[in-house]
Amino acid sequence: MEALLEISENDLGDFIQLSNKLYGLDFSGYAMESLRRRVLRLMKLKSCDSFAAFKYFLTNQELSDDDILNEITVNTTEMFRDFEVFKFLGEEVFGVLETYPRINIWHAGCSTGQEPLSLAILLKEQGLLKRSVQYCTDINSEVLAQAKKGIYELKEMKEYSANYIKSGGALSLSDYYVANYGKVKMNKELGKNMIFTKHNLVNGTSFNQMHMIMCRNVFIYLTTEQQNKVLRLFMDSLAPRGYLILGAKESAVFSTVLNELEIVNGKLKIYRKKG
Ligand SMILES: C[S@@+](CC[C@H](N)C(=O)[O-])C[C@H]1O[C@@H](n2cnc3c(N)ncnc32)[C@H](O)[C@@H]1O
Repeated sequence: MEALLEISENDLGDFIQLSNKLYGLDFSGYAMESLRRRVLRLMKLKSCDSFAAFKYFLTNQELSDDDILNEITVNTTEMFRDFEVFKFLGEEVFGVLETYPRINIWHAGCSTGQEPLSLAILLKEQGLLKRSVQYCTDINSEVLAQAKKGIYELKEMKEYSANYIKSGGALSLSDYYVANYGKVKMNKELGKNMIFTKHNLVNGTSFNQMHMIMCRNVFIYLTTEQQNKVLRLFMDSLAPRGYLILGAKESAVFSTVLNELEIVNGKLKIYRKKG
């Protein structure tokens, strides 16, 4: 029978301290219960039957930071995820972005790139792609490498296509990729103005004069204190009247920066920095 793996509060504290000291990864602001589940998953993956065995691995740096990140953070993403958000952007926000000669967009926690690509497609259809620069950042360099390639599974495209249409897409999603042997390669043009950089939201520096920041489905893993810290970073990175978009289960309403924000659409978690 498989032994039941367990880790104590102290073990979790040791994991946080060692990850920070030896791998430069700060998980102190991550929600504890999901962190515990994920550390247990990583231990199992590394065939460690106790925290002591895992600590040995960790201390002797037999793991890479991406080994740790791949299990501790969740990379799930889709194209046109929450299509209502993309529809709203196309109908209500692009008209404002259009007034800028150069449009700066930051995708914080972009994972494997489906979100920036979705936006790039809609920007292209409204004639805004060429003057948009999309800064795509994530803490995990493996997902960034995949994002740069722009290669995805063909079988995922069916659902993505339906959401593309619901997002207000004007053509067919298949116009934006070439399919081959069960994979698709997205058109190069979409990624031309994307800049991919490894960046940790918890201890990273701010960006400059962003007209829109999309940070969706990252806050759910962070403590309230850490979310407030990241929101401060976003406020410092946004241009006056810049947009901030969080994930469906996230909110800036109870945050310390609420008085600096206008709620554009509460349901869709779309906010705007006051001017
Ligand atoms: C669930 S994915 C969300 C992807 C995309 N934004 C979406 O909503 O479809 C969360 C991403 O956040 C990244 N992430 C987690 N903690 C982070 C941090 N401290 N700094 C930057 N990225 C982080 C993960 O590596 C992962 O790729």
